[in-house]
Amino acid sequence: MKASELAIRPMRAADVARVLEIASGLPTAPHWNEQTYLAALEPSSTPRRIAIVAAELTNDEPVGFAVSNLLAPQAELETVAVAAEAQGQGIGRVLLERLFAELRQAGAVEVFLESRTSNLSALGLYRRLGFRETGNRSGYYTDPIEDAVVMSLTIG
Ligand SMILES: CC(C)(COP(=O)(O)OP(=O)(O)OC[C@H]1O[C@@H](n2cnc3c(N)ncnc32)[C@H](O)[C@@H]1OP(=O)(O)O)[C@@H](O)C(=O)NCCC(=O)NCCS
Repeated sequence: MKASELAIRPMRAADVARVLEIASGLPTAPHWNEQTYLAALEPSSTPRRIAIVAAELTNDEPVGFAVSNLLAPQAELETVAVAAEAQGQGIGRVLLERLFAELRQAGAVEVFLESRTSNLSALGLYRRLGFRETGNRSGYYTDPIEDAVVMSLTIG
């Protein structure tokens, strides 16, 4: 599957079951529950959130998604995930490029994130997009306990 066979569009409530299915197949993805995703899609979500999916053009079914919160001028990338069978084809990069364009339009000038130090594919993606390490949070993650790398990218 190529990025050209996908549409990047806002996440909808009808996508949440598939989003949960994708996340459940990915041990390193954050495991939000259905209510958390549905709340994130509410325009009144506090903080404000932007949630998008990469959906197959043929059946409109998501193969990946990304969610950030926005407290302009700062945004936090909360999750990005691509279904295991669709990884390594540029979909994660396209998702984040679109997300950052939308965040920029909404007034963000900086995106930050935390990542497990062992999540090499995510760290590779973030570095590829220009993120730089700005810090380390000791023991930030539990189950298993692990440090977080803090990264940031100027998009303004
Ligand atoms: C991280 C993730 C979203 C990347 O998505 P993807 O569609 O496979 O990534 P892409 O194909 O767009 O790759 C873009 C860049 O990321 C980097 N990258 C991707 N996979 C990588 C890997 N396994 N190792 C190192 N770098 C990697 C590369 O720099 C790549 O650029 P290149 O193709 O020019 O070499 C995907 O691996 C995933 O869903 N992981 C599980 C969920 C997760 O851990 N999310 C992050 C925490 S929320």
